[in-house]
Amino acid sequence: MIYLDHAATTKPLPIVLKTYQDVAKQYFANPASPHHVGEVADDLISQAKTIFTDYFHIPQDGIIFTSGGTESNHLILDLVLHQFNGEPIHIITSTVEHASLYDKCQLLEQQGRLSVTYITPAENGQITKQQLTKAVQPDTKLVTIQLINSETGISQDSEMIGDFCKDHQLLFHTDAVQAFGKQKLSSIFNYVDALSLSAHKIHGLKGVGALLLKQPKEWRAPFQSKTQAGFRQGTIDAGLIASFAVCVNDYITNKNKRLNTLSRLRHYFISQLKHEQLPIEVINSDEEGSHIIGCLSTASYGDYFQQALNRKQIYVSTRSACHSNTIGAIRSLIPLYPTEQHQHYFRISIGYFTTKSEIDATIFALKNSLETRTL
Ligand SMILES: Cc1ncc(COP(=O)(O)O)c(C=O)c1O
Repeated sequence: MIYLDHAATTKPLPIVLKTYQDVAKQYFANPASPHHVGEVADDLISQAKTIFTDYFHIPQDGIIFTSGGTESNHLILDLVLHQFNGEPIHIITSTVEHASLYDKCQLLEQQGRLSVTYITPAENGQITKQQLTKAVQPDTKLVTIQLINSETGISQDSEMIGDFCKDHQLLFHTDAVQAFGKQKLSSIFNYVDALSLSAHKIHGLKGVGALLLKQPKEWRAPFQSKTQAGFRQGTIDAGLIASFAVCVNDYITNKNKRLNTLSRLRHYFISQLKHEQLPIEVINSDEEGSHIIGCLSTASYGDYFQQALNRKQIYVSTRSACHSNTIGAIRSLIPLYPTEQHQHYFRISIGYFTTKSEIDATIFALKNSLETRTL
C-alpha cells in the first residue's frame, strides 16, 4: 500500500510501540501513588517532559498532557474561561480552524460564555494584521489561530500574530497539531503563550497530546489537585506519555533529514504534476514546510480521485478525517474557492517515510484515472 494520508494520522514508530509496551508492563503504577512504583512512573513522566522543555524552552509544569489535539484545543478555551471568570470574554479566531476549536468556540458562544470574532482569511489564505486590528475589542482576551491548516496546508504568520498580541496584551494560542514535526518550532514560544500538540500526527499513539503553556504560573489552575499542577484531572498514563516523548525525540534527532524529505517530495510531486500536464491544481504550491498538498481538479470530483487511488491501494482523502462524513462546503476552502468547486478537492499528505517511487506511482495512478475518468 501507499499511504498518503499523514495529515489524518501516521503509523506509530516501532520504538513508540516498544516503549509503550515496556512501560505499560513494568511501570504500570499510578504516577500519583505515593509508593516506590508510583514514584518510578512519575519519574518517567518527568523524564518525558524534559524532551519537550528542552526543545520548546518552557517550564516543566507548563506541559499538560491531554488525550490529543482536540482536548488541548478545548482545554485552552476552558482555561481562558476560568482565568477571566466574571469578566466579559471576547476571543479572536478564524473561520478555517480545525473543528475541535471552531465547534467548541461556537458552543461556548451559544452558551453565552464568551463572544467570538471569526476572521475569514484573505484570498491567499492568510490572516492579516489589518483583520486582527479590526477584530480586537476592549474585552478581547485571547487570539487562537492555527499554524498549518489540515486541508490547505497553508501556514499562518505566527510571528506577526504574536507581535500583534504582545502590542495589545492579548494571549496567543496556536493549534500546532499539523505544524509540529513539519516546521521548525523551537523558537515558537517567542511568539505564542500556549500551543496544542497531538502525538498521532508525528508517529506516536492516538489518545495522547499536550497543551503547552509558556508561563504556567500566570494561569489560574482550575483544580487544587497536584496532578498536572491542577490544570487537568485524571490518571495519566506513563506509557502513553513516554511513547509520545520518544516520537518527539525521534523527530528532534532527525529534524533536518525529516524536513528535507517532506520538502523534497512535496516539490517533486508538484513538479511531476506539471511535467505530466495533469489538470490538477495544487492549492498552496508555493508554500514551504507543509506536508499537505491540497489538490483541486475540475476534470472530476475529489471522491472520484480518492476512490480511483483507493483501488490501487493508494490512500489519500477528500477532506480532513473528522469531516469525512459531511457534505457541502469545506470551511478551509471558502476563502480560496467558490463552494461549488469544493467537491473537486482531494488531499495528499506525505510523511517522513514516503518515497520518490511512491510519488511516481501516485502520479501514474492519477494520470490513469484521468484517462479513464467519468465526471
Ligand atoms: C489542525 C488540527 N487540530 C486538531 C486536531 C485534533 O487532533 P486529535 O486527533 O489528536 O484530537 C487535528 C486532527 O486532525 C488537526 O488537524
